[in-house]
Amino acid sequence: MTKTTTAAQTKIPLLDLKEQYGALREELLEAARRVMDSGVVITGPENKAFEAEFAAAMGAKHCVGVSNGTDAIELSLKACGVGPGDEVVVPAFTFIATASAVSTIGAKPVFADVDFKTFTLTPEALEKALTPKTKAVVPVHLFGWPADMDALLAVAAKKGLKVVEDCAQAHGALYKGKSIGALGDAGTFSFYPSKNMGALGDAGAVVTNDEALASRVRSIRDAGRAPGERYLHAFPGRNARLDELQAAFLRVKLKRLAAWNESREAVAKIYRRELAGLPVTLPPEPKAGLRHVYHLFVLRAERRDALSRHLSRADIGNAVYYPVALHLQPAFKDAGFKEGSFPVSEQACREVLALPMYPELGAERALRVAQEIRRFYA
Ligand SMILES: Cc1ncc(COP(=O)(O)O)c(C=O)c1O
Repeated sequence: MTKTTTAAQTKIPLLDLKEQYGALREELLEAARRVMDSGVVITGPENKAFEAEFAAAMGAKHCVGVSNGTDAIELSLKACGVGPGDEVVVPAFTFIATASAVSTIGAKPVFADVDFKTFTLTPEALEKALTPKTKAVVPVHLFGWPADMDALLAVAAKKGLKVVEDCAQAHGALYKGKSIGALGDAGTFSFYPSKNMGALGDAGAVVTNDEALASRVRSIRDAGRAPGERYLHAFPGRNARLDELQAAFLRVKLKRLAAWNESREAVAKIYRRELAGLPVTLPPEPKAGLRHVYHLFVLRAERRDALSRHLSRADIGNAVYYPVALHLQPAFKDAGFKEGSFPVSEQACREVLALPMYPELGAERALRVAQEIRRFYA
C-alpha cells in the first residue's frame, strides 16, 4: 500500500527556499549562462540592468548594487559623511548588522527604544537619544512593517540628521502609499537568501534620490575609484561590489517580488483570522496606504517558550527574532547601557515568536500552524 502524506503529517519549516529554487530553476540557470556568455563577471551589464530595475521598483532615482545588506548600511553612512566621533541612533531591537555597520566605520551606535506594537523606532525615543554628536539615524522597517517615517524625518530635519532606512526586511513595503527606501537620504537592502527577495548567496543594494550620494557609494564599493577611473582613487574605499551572477539572479527574482509579497499577505490573513481571540498579540492591521510585507510573521505570545517547544514537537518551524536586545549584546557591553535601559525592546525579546512564513507556504499549512497554536492554548 502506498503511504500518502498530508499537510497534517508533514514537517512545516519556518522557511523553505527549495520550493522557490525549484520553480525558478530554468530561469536562474539561463541567467547564469547569460553571465558566462558575456564574459563579464564583475560590475557589468547585469549590474547596470538590475540597478535600473530595482531603483524603478523601489520608486528611487538611483540604485547601487553592493555585496550585502550590512555593507549597504556602512557605505550609505560613510557616503553621508558619518565617521569617527559621530553618533548614529539605531533601534535596540533589530538584527545586529544595523548597529555593527555603524561601529565598523568608527562611529558610535546609540540605541533607542521601539514601539510596542510595530517594533520600530519611535520619534520620542529618537529625540531622547540625541546629543550634540548625533549625525544620523537608521530606522529599521522591522519584519516588513514600515517605521513611522514622517515623524522620524521631522525630528531628523529639525536636528539636521542624515536618515538611512534599513530596508533589509521590507522589500516592497509601502508607507503612506510610497515605497520605503528613498524616503530619507538613502535606503539599504539585503538580498540574503531568506529575505523577501533573496540572492543565491550574499548581496545588497543602496537606493537614493541623491545623485551625488549614489556616486559616492559607487566609488566606496569599488576601491574608492574616482568615476570612470581605473587606477586613480579618490579616497581609501572598499571592495563591496555586487557580483554579476547575483545581479542576474536578482533580476529573475525581482519579477516575482510583488506576487510573493501578496502570497505572504494571504498567509498573514489566515494567521490573523485563525489566531484571533488567543492570548497572543498579532501584528497591527495595516492602515490605508501602509503595506506590511511580512518578511516574518511575529506575534507576542503568553508562555512563549512553552509554545515554541509545543510547535517544535509538532514539527512546525518557529524562531525568536530576537532573543537579546542590542544594548545587552556582549558586542556592545561598553556602550553604557544596562538591563532596563530599553524596556519595550527587552519585553519584545521575552515575548516574540515568528511563525512559518514564505510565499509558497499556502493555506493548508498555515491552517495547520494555527490549529497547533489553538491546541496549545486550549
Ligand atoms: C534588519 C537587518 N539589517 C541588516 C541586515 C544585514 O544584511 P546582510 O545579512 O545582507 O549583511 C539584515 C540581514 O540579516 C537585517 O535583517
